[in-house]
Amino acid sequence: MILQKDNHFLLSSKDTSLLIHVNEVKKVSLEYLGKRIDSLDYIDGVIRSYPYLQGSEILYDKEKTGYSLNQAKLLFSTLGKGDFFSPSCLLKSDSLSVFDFCFDHAEIKTPETLASLPCPDGGEEELVITLKEKEKNIFVDLCFTTYQDENVISCFQRVRNEEKEALIVNKLASLQIPLINEGYELYSTYGCWSGELSVQHEKVTRGKKVMESLCGWSSARHNPFFFLKSENATFDEGHVIGFNLMYSGNFENSVEMDAFENIRVQVSLSPFSFEKKLEEHECFITPVALFSNSQKGVNKMSQDFHSFINRHIIPKEFRGKDRPIAYNNWEATNFDFNQGKINSLIKKASELGIELFVLDDGWFGERNDDTKGLGDWNVNEKKLPKGLKGLAESAKKHGMQFGIWMEPEMVNPNSNLYQNHPDWVIQDSVHTLSEGRNQLVLNLAKKEVQDFVVESVCSVLESADISYLKWDCNRAISDFKNEDGTFFFSYIEGLYSALRRIRERHPNVLMENCASGGNRFDLGMLSFFPQSWQSDDTDSYQRTMIQEGGSLGYPLSTLSNHVACKVSKTRLRNTSLDTKFDVACFGVLGYELDLDDLSKLEMKIIKSQIELYKKYRSVFQWGTFSQSNLLENKEKQVQVEKDGVFLIGKYQTLQSASPKEKHL
Ligand code: GLA
Repeated sequence: MILQKDNHFLLSSKDTSLLIHVNEVKKVSLEYLGKRIDSLDYIDGVIRSYPYLQGSEILYDKEKTGYSLNQAKLLFSTLGKGDFFSPSCLLKSDSLSVFDFCFDHAEIKTPETLASLPCPDGGEEELVITLKEKEKNIFVDLCFTTYQDENVISCFQRVRNEEKEALIVNKLASLQIPLINEGYELYSTYGCWSGELSVQHEKVTRGKKVMESLCGWSSARHNPFFFLKSENATFDEGHVIGFNLMYSGNFENSVEMDAFENIRVQVSLSPFSFEKKLEEHECFITPVALFSNSQKGVNKMSQDFHSFINRHIIPKEFRGKDRPIAYNNWEATNFDFNQGKINSLIKKASELGIELFVLDDGWFGERNDDTKGLGDWNVNEKKLPKGLKGLAESAKKHGMQFGIWMEPEMVNPNSNLYQNHPDWVIQDSVHTLSEGRNQLVLNLAKKEVQDFVVESVCSVLESADISYLKWDCNRAISDFKNEDGTFFFSYIEGLYSALRRIRERHPNVLMENCASGGNRFDLGMLSFFPQSWQSDDTDSYQRTMIQEGGSLGYPLSTLSNHVACKVSKTRLRNTSLDTKFDVACFGVLGYELDLDDLSKLEMKIIKSQIELYKKYRSVFQWGTFSQSNLLENKEKQVQVEKDGVFLIGKYQTLQSASPKEKHL
C-alpha cells in the first residue's frame, strides 16, 4: 500500500511501513522504517528536526537553518554539497562535477517491468519519486514497489539525461537506506570454491564495510544477501533488516557509519570499471534491490524473503511445484564413464526410487578430462553410442526423467569451437589470455555469441526427451576489454537475454544453476533457475554450514543438496549415510554417490530415505523454515513446518563426554 499526503509518502508492506518525506529545501529522506502504520495523520512528530548545525558541518541552504546533508537520512546522495558519506550516485559531465538533485514530482502507479534485467513480478503499486538536478535537465527516479501480503519492498533507480551534453554515470546504487544505529551487527557471507556461503558477523563500527564481487559474477566471495540485526535481536525476536540485489554480476554492497552513529546501507552494482555514457534522452536503469524489515528476529526476515522468492522471483512454471529427486553421476564417475556404466547407474537409481537421472560433464566432444572439448556440444559416440536419445529412452523406460549438464558460456582452447571462433572469447587483444580450469569465457556481450549459446543449448534440449538442464559456469572473468565502460554489465545483460530466449523456447525444462557449486548464486539467476547447486563440497559437516548461509536468505526450494560419496572428496571425512541424508533433506534432495559400490544394506537405507523424503517432500521444499542459531555454537536445530507437519533437524559438531540435558 502506498499513501501520499502533502510532502509525505507512506509505503507499507504487510507488517512494515516506510515514511518518505520531502522537506522545505526539497530533499528526500527516510524518516521512519518500522512497524506498519496505516495513516499519515499525526506523522509530523517523527520527522527529524535540525535545531543547530553540528560542529563543522556544511549548511546546505540558508533557508533551512541547522540542516546539513551529512546528517540527513537521504535515500539518494551525491558528493559536493556537504554530504561526506560515500555517495549512492556518482556522475560527471564536461560542465559539472557537483550534482545537486532535489524533489521534482512523484507518481503512484502500476509497477513496471524492466526490459533487460530480471525483476520480481506481481507488484501491487509503485512509487516513483523524481529528482531533478537544480541547474540542469538531468533526472533521477527513485522507484519503490510494494507487494500485497509480502514483507519485501523492491527498489531500483533510473538516471535520465535531457541535456545535449553527454552525462557519465560511474555509480548509481539500486537502494540507499539510512538508519540510526541500534547496536547493529552485520551478517554477511564469504566463501570460495567448496566453501560457499560461510556466515560471518561483526558489530557495525564507524567506517565502511564493503561486500563486493569483481569476478564478473556475483561469486562466492560474498553473496549479495546480507542483514543487520539490532543488538538485542535473536533468531526469533527483535529488529532485523535484510537486503539483497537481484543481479548476477559485479556488485558493491556496503554499510557505513559516521561519528554520530548515522548509518547508510547501500545495495549497488559495482562502480569499478563502470562508466556508462548517456547522450541526450538516454537513461540508465539499475538492477532491482530488495529489503525486508522484521520485528520478529532473523527467522522472520528469512521467511519473508523465502516466501517472496517462491512467489515473485522463481519462474512461474515452478512455483509451488515439487522438485524431483535427482541422481547425478559426477561424483561417481567424473569424466570416466561409458554407456554400460551409465545404464547400470540408471537401473540402480530407478530401483532406489530416484525420479530424475542427470548426466553430468563428459558426454560431448573430446571431453575426457577438463582440458578439451568444452564448447563442442555434440555427443561423444565413442562413450555413448546410443546418444542422448538412447539414454533418455533408457531413463524413461526405468520410470525416470532425463537431464543433462552443460557449461554454455565457456570454451576450452583445445576445442573445435575455439579453433573456429577464437574471436568469440573475452580478450583484451594485448595479453596472453589467462585460463581458469583450462578454459576461456565466451563473450556474451556479443549478439552472435548469445545466438550460439541459445542455439547450442536448445538443440541439445531438442535432441532427446530432456526435462532438466544443469547450467554450469566454472571460472571468473579475466582479460576483458572495457571499451565503452560497461563490459561487465553488458555481459550480464547478454547472459540474461540468452537465458530469456532459452526459457521462452523451453519453459518447462527444470534448469539448475551451478557455478563450480555456488559461485553465482543470486536472485538474478533464480529468476531463470528455480534451484541451485550449493557447492561441490558434499561433506555433511561443511554442508550444514553452507545450507545455513543459503537458507538465511533463500528458500529451501532453491537449495539443491546431494547425498554423495561416503568419504567426502573435498574433506576426506567419512560420515554415515544417515547423517548425509539428515543434512541434505532440508531442501531439494539428490544423490551423487556410486550406486554400483553400495551394499544391499546401503541400498535399503537409501530406499527408505527416498520413501521418507517423498512422503514429506512438500514440507522439506515449501515449508516454513526456521533455525535456532548458527552452527558456530557447535550445535543447532532447524525446523520446517507445513500444514501442521513439523520436521526437525538437530545437528552437533562433536559429542560431548558430559552433555547437559537439552530439549527440542
Ligand atoms: C563443476 C560443478 C560440478 C560438476 C563439474 C563438472 O565443478 O560444480 O558439480 O558438474 O563442474 O565438470
